[in-house]
Amino acid sequence: MQAATDHPVEIKPKSWTMSTPSLLLPPVLLLAATVAMAESVINVKPGCQESCGGVAIPYPFGIGPGCFRPGFEINCVSTGIASMPVLAGATSSGQDDAVEVLELFVAPRPEARVRLPVAWQCFDANGTLTGDSSGDFNFNREGVYRISNTSNELYVLGCNSLIYTRGGEGGRFPYAYYAGCTTYANSSTDPQDGVCAGIGCCHVDIPPGLTDNLMHMFSDRGTWSHANQSFCPCDYAFIVEKGLYTFRASHLRSMPRITQTMPLVLDWAIRDNGSASMSCAAEAKKTTSYACVSNHSKCVDSTNGPGYICNCTQGYGGNPYVIGGCTNIDECAFPEKFPCHGVCKDTVGFYECRCPWGYESTGDPKENQCNPKLSRSAKIAIGVIVGTFGLIVVLLLTWLMFKHIELKAKNRELEEIERKNGGERLRNMKSLKIFTEQEIQKITDNNSKYLGKGSFGKVYKGTLPDTTKVAVKASIEVTEHTLDNFVKEVEIQSNMIHMNILKLLGCCLEVNVPLLVYEYAANGSLEDILYGKHGQPLQPLKLNSRLDIAIRSAEGLAYMHSYIQPTIQHGDVKPGNILLDSKLVPKISDFGLSKFLTTGKQYATVVVGCLGYMDPVFKHTGRLTEKSDVYSFGVVLLELICRKRITYGENGLIMEFKRAFDEEKSGRAMFDNEIAKEEDIPVLDEIGTLAIKCLKERCEERPHMASVARQLATLKETWEQRFLSM
Ligand SMILES: *[C@@H]1O[C@H](CO)[C@@H](O)[C@H](O)[C@H]1NC(C)=O
Ligand SMILES: *[C@@H]1O[C@H](CO)[C@@H](O)[C@H](O)[C@H]1NC(C)=O
Ligand SMILES: *[C@@H]1O[C@H](CO)[C@@H](O)[C@H](O)[C@H]1NC(C)=O
Ligand SMILES: *[C@@H]1O[C@H](CO)[C@@H](O)[C@H](O)[C@H]1NC(C)=O
Ligand SMILES: *[C@@H]1O[C@H](CO)[C@@H](O)[C@H](O)[C@H]1NC(C)=O
Ligand SMILES: *[C@@H]1O[C@H](CO)[C@@H](O)[C@H](O)[C@H]1NC(C)=O
Ligand SMILES: *[C@@H]1O[C@H](CO)[C@@H](O)[C@H](O)[C@H]1NC(C)=O
Repeated sequence: MQAATDHPVEIKPKSWTMSTPSLLLPPVLLLAATVAMAESVINVKPGCQESCGGVAIPYPFGIGPGCFRPGFEINCVSTGIASMPVLAGATSSGQDDAVEVLELFVAPRPEARVRLPVAWQCFDANGTLTGDSSGDFNFNREGVYRISNTSNELYVLGCNSLIYTRGGEGGRFPYAYYAGCTTYANSSTDPQDGVCAGIGCCHVDIPPGLTDNLMHMFSDRGTWSHANQSFCPCDYAFIVEKGLYTFRASHLRSMPRITQTMPLVLDWAIRDNGSASMSCAAEAKKTTSYACVSNHSKCVDSTNGPGYICNCTQGYGGNPYVIGGCTNIDECAFPEKFPCHGVCKDTVGFYECRCPWGYESTGDPKENQCNPKLSRSAKIAIGVIVGTFGLIVVLLLTWLMFKHIELKAKNRELEEIERKNGGERLRNMKSLKIFTEQEIQKITDNNSKYLGKGSFGKVYKGTLPDTTKVAVKASIEVTEHTLDNFVKEVEIQSNMIHMNILKLLGCCLEVNVPLLVYEYAANGSLEDILYGKHGQPLQPLKLNSRLDIAIRSAEGLAYMHSYIQPTIQHGDVKPGNILLDSKLVPKISDFGLSKFLTTGKQYATVVVGCLGYMDPVFKHTGRLTEKSDVYSFGVVLLELICRKRITYGENGLIMEFKRAFDEEKSGRAMFDNEIAKEEDIPVLDEIGTLAIKCLKERCEERPHMASVARQLATLKETWEQRFLSM
């Protein structure tokens, strides 16, 4: 045997020398090997050597005492550089040789791949036998092997030869089967490479039950004479695994004898002591020697010779000959062996196969394709719907994208405008709410409630989300030059918290002309009250109310004047700028906005005031002081008691009143008839006197606003007491 590997012979087909046995394996065997590797199967008896020379040694095979079942012993011999498994106890007559084991399998079929020697006989030119070997090898003393009739075939090489093998028991002759063939060749040129059909070479299938490789060769001098055949001196006979040998004409001359071996497949089975009567039916009940010890294993009668073999039950794989050897197979990992056309799911013992959702199979999806449940028209319909939907989605997304870009650009634009309008500084103010343009539109219901015209633009009524009524009006347009003033203005206004000053609640800066949101005065302006709005009939206004309006307006203005940093003047005090809420509480409005003066810059650059109410000093000097407001308030006082416009008479209300007062020491002639009751004339005259003080030409002679407020309050007090005492 060793000689075979040490002196490779030229005629030996390449595949014979392959060191990787798996390349010789049919796919099924490969699969079995994969299963064995995938699962950590128990393959040997505890503590036994699992392999030798790269060959796995599964139980019932084994190396060493206690590791094998009788008849399955393997020896692991050293070849000098490596180890090699051999069948233990095999001998040939006179030869101390061994049967090399190439592979051992327990599943799916019990097989052993080994190398066995080639039989031969040679003659001289006279036809005299010069040497032979029957090839017999006593490898099967325990009778567990049968030469596989399914995997091997018999080859005979020679030029006038009959060689056969025999096996089985009984029949007309001592053996049940005789299998062999004859081959003849007239000259050295007749045999053809690759053709094994009776000219120099023949081959036949072999019968089952062969227990040895003994060849029966004919060498008589008559029919099977080998005389005069020097081109073909020898006969050869061997059993080889199907497909592994290819005939060459040159083999007739030069196949080395003795050393040559051929790979073949042995079937094995459990048949202790070569018993011919062992079967599953007989053995399964014997617990001591029964070989199928693993759970999920079963007994199968041998198909080649008597005895039985063990097999894992369906869904399990591994070694049924050891305890715990049969383990669950993940069938889904081997789709070729366990087909599934749907979704495969491994179960203990087997596997499930179902069609995926929306699919169905006409039969078992293990065998039949899964097809969509829908009919062709339904598919088209769904395709159309999905397609349309997809298109809509795409369009929608595109639209949203453009919207988003547009919005971003708009936001950038808005931010830019807001920055231009002083947004950065005003945003930090606590008492000031910054509204977006959208919010303003919502608050004013898209400017649906027009209130009137302010100093710089239209005023609209609005409602905050918390139902607070507000007035929204435009401020001045903010430019680089006016930005600073505008910001300060808004800061001051929102910081001015007085009952009689119209409160600035918030603003909207992201519009070109900033919008200011003020508290809402339900009764409009004093001008509306005194003179009627849009020609509506005048409503009566009691002296008491007029006094209250005067006092509170004065208080509001006084509060304004008390503002130190910077000093604040209204600059445009007139009935139109004194608003009245639902309870006729006055709210000074329309102050500031270029009408205030910062410290150190006491001269207003822009004149916005109404001429009639304008302080003559301011008219002359352009110098606006708080006394200018006092002057204007003096006019308002006159209007309150006279209910006459400033334009009244030839010389205007002021001159007319002054003249009346000069002439009669009383403004009686000028007073509004509604309040000019006899008993009230004195208080009206006192108010008139105070108004004239306010209207003094010289600023220094005019009282302070706080003083005006105080005096008016005292007047009212005394008037009330007098009224009560009556
Ligand atoms: C063949 O036989 C003849 C006569 O019987 C003998 O002379 C001759 O030597 C033999 N040849 C060989 C190779 O033995
Ligand atoms: C091998 O022998 C068995 C049992 O007699 C038989 O069923 C099978 O067909 C044979 N195989 C071949 C390839 O002859
Ligand atoms: C057999 O071979 C001999 C010599 O090589 C030759 O003369 C003869 O014709 C051959 N016979 C046949 C039938 O081919
Ligand atoms: C072999 O050839 C020789 C002559 O060439 C002849 O005399 C002899 O009979 C032949 N032998 C056989 C067995 O045919
Ligand atoms: C096999 O034979 C031996 C003796 O030849 C015997 O001791 C042994 O029990 C036998 N085994 C079986 C399973 O019959
Ligand atoms: C063992 O069982 C498997 C299925 O479980 C089967 O495919 C195989 O052919 C069986 N082997 C023998 C030798 O009966
Ligand atoms: C084999 O099965 C039996 C009963 O089903 C159980 O008691 C035993 O533990 C199993 N053995 C192994 C090795 O799984």
